[in-house]
Amino acid sequence: ARPRMIDPFKRPITYLRVSVTDRCDFRCVYCMAEDMTFLPKRDLLTLEELDRLSSAFIAKGVRKLRLTGGEPLVRRGIMQLIRSLSRHLDSGALEELTLTTNGSQLARFASELADCGVKRINVSLDTLDAGKFKAITRWGDFDKVMGGLMAARSAGLKVKLNAVALKGFNDDEIPSMIEWAHGEGMELTLIETMPMGEIDEDRTDRYLPLSAVRASLAERWTLKDIPFRTGGPARYVEVAETGGRLGFITPMTHNFCESCNRVRVTCTGTLFMCLGQEDAADLRGPMRASEGDELLNQAIDAAISRKPKGHDFVIDRLTKAPSVSRHMSVTGG
Ligand code: GTP
Ligand code: 5AD
Ligand code: SF4
Repeated sequence: ARPRMIDPFKRPITYLRVSVTDRCDFRCVYCMAEDMTFLPKRDLLTLEELDRLSSAFIAKGVRKLRLTGGEPLVRRGIMQLIRSLSRHLDSGALEELTLTTNGSQLARFASELADCGVKRINVSLDTLDAGKFKAITRWGDFDKVMGGLMAARSAGLKVKLNAVALKGFNDDEIPSMIEWAHGEGMELTLIETMPMGEIDEDRTDRYLPLSAVRASLAERWTLKDIPFRTGGPARYVEVAETGGRLGFITPMTHNFCESCNRVRVTCTGTLFMCLGQEDAADLRGPMRASEGDELLNQAIDAAISRKPKGHDFVIDRLTKAPSVSRHMSVTGG
């Protein structure tokens, strides 16, 4: 059996999220400022290094690998990395290889992803209204994303849509998004906005607790709690009327850290042990220091041994300051 990583709170770490680029072709208003500065390209790990790092974690017991960004599909050569990582699916070491994407490049990549053993993908979609889509992404092309979704479905990929619930923006649209997604055979997960990084908007005003959303949905529909889990933080209900699944990711109103199984690596090889904390460990140095993985493995073990208990996210109505200074796009959520 492979060695297992166990954190100080006895949680087995079996899920790695790898942000392959901090860049994105959209600028969602809840995620980034319009004039974001991205990392200089020379600081990025190479595709080979991303592979080596991921493989080191797999050797240490990671069973699920999710590529994120920024937007993972804008990283040059990304399919080369995915193709190479798929060997761990073939060997049985990895249970799931997947990604979270904004969908803009899916039309181009969907069938190749399926060919690499990717079974399901998560696609961010916060509205079904093309005008609102443009407003929230600042310049995203709604039709292109729709085309991507349809290509994913034709390629046989299961699709889960992610929508960040935003007051005064998409709250009135949530029921129609559920109906549409379920009608298309897709799942939908609602997410509470998390206070990460400075953005141009007032996040406090947009914050919508999902407990309230759920209560209002329950007036219209029969929501049945189901034990279904993906290994992620979402709790699911089945909507009797649509027959589809609806997920809730509630870092603010219902903390799920006690069952946390994950850590995150950035595109520069920095390991974040918790999404909602600043503490991080450099893995690029130890990885580059020698050809063997001994130093790298030591650095990983040291980092896991200080994984914090959980996040301290607060939506601060007074200062409006983010709890964590880095943006979601650094660690890909
Ligand atoms: P699956 O459950 O495997 O489908 O994926 P997921 O929901 O874990 O991943 P996805 O990339 O779709 O993330 C959806 C949202 O959940 C994003 O806003 C993430 O930031 C958030 N999220 C994922 N993992 C964590 C976590 O460990 N802590 C917190 N607070 N949020 C998380
Ligand atoms: N709070 C919650 N979710 C966010 N996302 C990006 N920024 C935030 C935030 N501040 C979502 C994206 C994507 C997922 C990876 O994280 O919409 O679906
Ligand atoms: Fe895990 Fe931190 Fe997310 Fe909580 S906030 S679930 S501890 S990564």
